[in-house]
Amino acid sequence: MIPILDLKRQYNQHKEALDEAVLAVMESGGFILGPTVERFEKDVAQWLDANHAIGVATGTDALYLALRACGVGPGDEVITTAFTYIATSESIVRAGARPVFVDIDPQTYNMDVNKIEAAITDRTKAILPVHLYGQPVDMDAVMHIAQQRNLKVIEDCAQAIGAKWHGRAVGTYGDCGCFSFFPTKNLGAFGDGGLVTANDQVVADKVRNLRVHGQTKKYHHDYEGVNSRLDAMQAAILSVKLPYLADWNQRRREIAAGYTKAFSVDPDILTPVVVDHGEHVFHQYTIQVPNRDAVQTALNEAGIATMVYYPIPCHLQGMHADLGYQPGSLPITESVAQRVLSLPIFPELTHDEQHRVIEQVHAAVKQQALPV
Ligand SMILES: Cc1ncc(COP(=O)(O)O)c(C=O)c1O
Repeated sequence: MIPILDLKRQYNQHKEALDEAVLAVMESGGFILGPTVERFEKDVAQWLDANHAIGVATGTDALYLALRACGVGPGDEVITTAFTYIATSESIVRAGARPVFVDIDPQTYNMDVNKIEAAITDRTKAILPVHLYGQPVDMDAVMHIAQQRNLKVIEDCAQAIGAKWHGRAVGTYGDCGCFSFFPTKNLGAFGDGGLVTANDQVVADKVRNLRVHGQTKKYHHDYEGVNSRLDAMQAAILSVKLPYLADWNQRRREIAAGYTKAFSVDPDILTPVVVDHGEHVFHQYTIQVPNRDAVQTALNEAGIATMVYYPIPCHLQGMHADLGYQPGSLPITESVAQRVLSLPIFPELTHDEQHRVIEQVHAAVKQQALPV
């Protein structure tokens, strides 16, 4: 079976340094926040060219804390996409606000920036773009609207660490950027982890306080917060991996280019676009095919693992039933959700494996496209 991703290969390549880093934390006796986390925060801020970086427990908490730090709360609306992991819209609800979904651009899979204006009401407080699969959203368009309409911008960069728009890292455009270090991410911890980047000192301080129960100084809790800290073990692991991230992202782009070239001969396979001014980091390589479920089954039988991210868009999830969306509310999102299929992509994927994936995808699509 060719896996969609194999974390053991990366561990084996860097085993010595990773083991040493974990051991050093154990020997230090400092496990929560502290100098190891501070060092990682400083290094990752520099890597992204972000003003501030705050380590938190998960990408989901990063979104929640960023929303709170930007003043989003009950009565507010936040404009976002429904074609994302549920954590995006769930965090808006958790902050007390209401997600307002705009449809996606079928080319990029990201929120259609031309549909934002029409979704703005006098309750709109923020825009929450998601750089899905590692593809940057047009941040010039988002920031232009936000500045004109005095809205906050919180970027969901969970799948897009290192992706760039006009040469600048995503997560540094908006008021906050939210990153996940879930093990399968381009920069993955050995457990949960997350990060908030912020442009403004006041917002950064607020996130820092919120992650420790709203503490402004020792045992002074000025507002309700949470317990959401990056632990030292994860920070140490991430510090070992960070220097390789640019190369890993580059290798993902090479694999993606190989797939796109190979599939360009088949009109039934729609390959992901790389937009002008964008630098994609291919957290996922996601194609669209007719008869997707049958193609996926055929590939599984042929020994190729694939995934569907995401079969049910957020607006149709039971969690959001109260928001009043129906099937048909977001036609492009819904149609794309029926057709997407993510293929194996990770820096350690071999040429032979990729070749086999390509062969089998061609065969499965051809077979399934036949009239029944
Ligand atoms: C787009 C998106 N947002 C948010 C998250 C949440 O991150 P985490 O799993 O670290 O809480 C994820 C992770 O799967 C994600 O893909």
